[in-house]
Amino acid sequence: MHFFNTAANIFAIAITLLPICSAQAPMGVPYTDPETDITFSTWTIPGPLGLTFGLALPDSAREVDATDFTGYLKCTTTTGWCGISLGGAMTDSLLLVMYADLMLESESSVAISPRYTSTYTLPEPYTGNATITPLSTYIDKPTNSFTTIFTCTSCLHWSQNGTEGGAKTSSGMLDLAWAVSPEKPVIAADGQGLVGLIQHERQGTWVAEVR
Ligand code: HEM
Repeated sequence: MHFFNTAANIFAIAITLLPICSAQAPMGVPYTDPETDITFSTWTIPGPLGLTFGLALPDSAREVDATDFTGYLKCTTTTGWCGISLGGAMTDSLLLVMYADLMLESESSVAISPRYTSTYTLPEPYTGNATITPLSTYIDKPTNSFTTIFTCTSCLHWSQNGTEGGAKTSSGMLDLAWAVSPEKPVIAADGQGLVGLIQHERQGTWVAEVR
């Protein structure tokens, strides 16, 4: 009898802990990039085909909804792409598709393409006025990963084809989502950038605490 009680207790504890182990904790892990000296709150999806995404928000973000942030992405594929949704879903959110663009002049270039879609099909180029400025990029072929740090101005509210949305940093929590594909993005030969993507192999959502 005692054995069954103990086994039942262990089973109950395991069931309680399982979702905690598999889900992302809202509180990010602080990481200071040595090159830019910027400190990010980061969340990691373990690989292969994983990523680490980091956010540095203005100090006032918990009081006033921020529109801008500095982002950090380490993506564990150099041939495919990593995507972040700033609205917690693939649809009706500003999406950032990031890939190591070996066709750009510098071998260490990472491209960031803002996209948008209202359906679960290839997202189209975002036509709102977000401005993305790379601060630092790094492609590490031995570990099959690339890293990019960038400022994203006017990225936390979005508007496309009459649909508006945004992330409310003053709520203290942000709904975010991620996707990773090992498949090479299709890049236009005339330098016009990303023209095609094959659907991601892994994707998910998480809630991020605003710090
Ligand atoms: C050809 C391109 C794409 C196709 C066909 C596609 C298709 C899909 C489909 C069918 C789902 C639902 C999967 C399920 O519920 O099992 C999904 C989910 C998702 N996709 Fe995509 N996707 C594409 C590109 C992207 C991109 C570029 C991003 C991000 C930058 C993205 C982010 C997500 C996320 C975060 C989810 C899970 C959350 C949600 O269901 O909204 N997708 N996608």
